[in-house]
Amino acid sequence: MKDLLRQHTSLKEEIEILLNNQVKMEAEASAKYLAMASWCDRNGFKYSSAYFLSQADEERAHMLKIFNYIMTVGGTAVSPEIGGIKQDYPTFRSVFEAALQSEIAVTQSINRIVTASRNGEDYATEAFMQWFVTEQVEEEDNARRALELFDVIGEEGTGRYFIDKAIKKLGDGGGEDA
Ligand SMILES: [Fe+2]
Repeated sequence: MKDLLRQHTSLKEEIEILLNNQVKMEAEASAKYLAMASWCDRNGFKYSSAYFLSQADEERAHMLKIFNYIMTVGGTAVSPEIGGIKQDYPTFRSVFEAALQSEIAVTQSINRIVTASRNGEDYATEAFMQWFVTEQVEEEDNARRALELFDVIGEEGTGRYFIDKAIKKLGDGGGEDA
């Protein structure tokens, strides 16, 4: 019976490892966004702080989605260990640069899972990951538009105050966030 159960686990070890790595990456992204929320809060950017708090929530939801998928297909979901989260940033702008960098890394990692699942003929995982492919288009767009505000508005004088206010609109979705 145990052997039969094992046969019914269609998740290949290689894909299981990639998915668990992605769980960890989403958890790290969530923790990074919490640190960014805290930095923005203590530097007086309250709308950006709220924006990053809600991003942290989203990343945790992503983590859970993958965690649940691993369990559903009979794999072993691993509770991620995270550490070494950067708590300090030199400038307001550098927080948003780090956010965009993080999203680009997540997109690349998701693309690697799609490629591996396709090559391994794991079409269930490929289909499951499509949601994340689409989600990353929006996540990267948000991160890029946030960073663009620094150039469009400019940081001089009251610039950063208005950038922070404009981030609130971004957080409200501009009609794109669910
Ligand atoms: Fe994510």
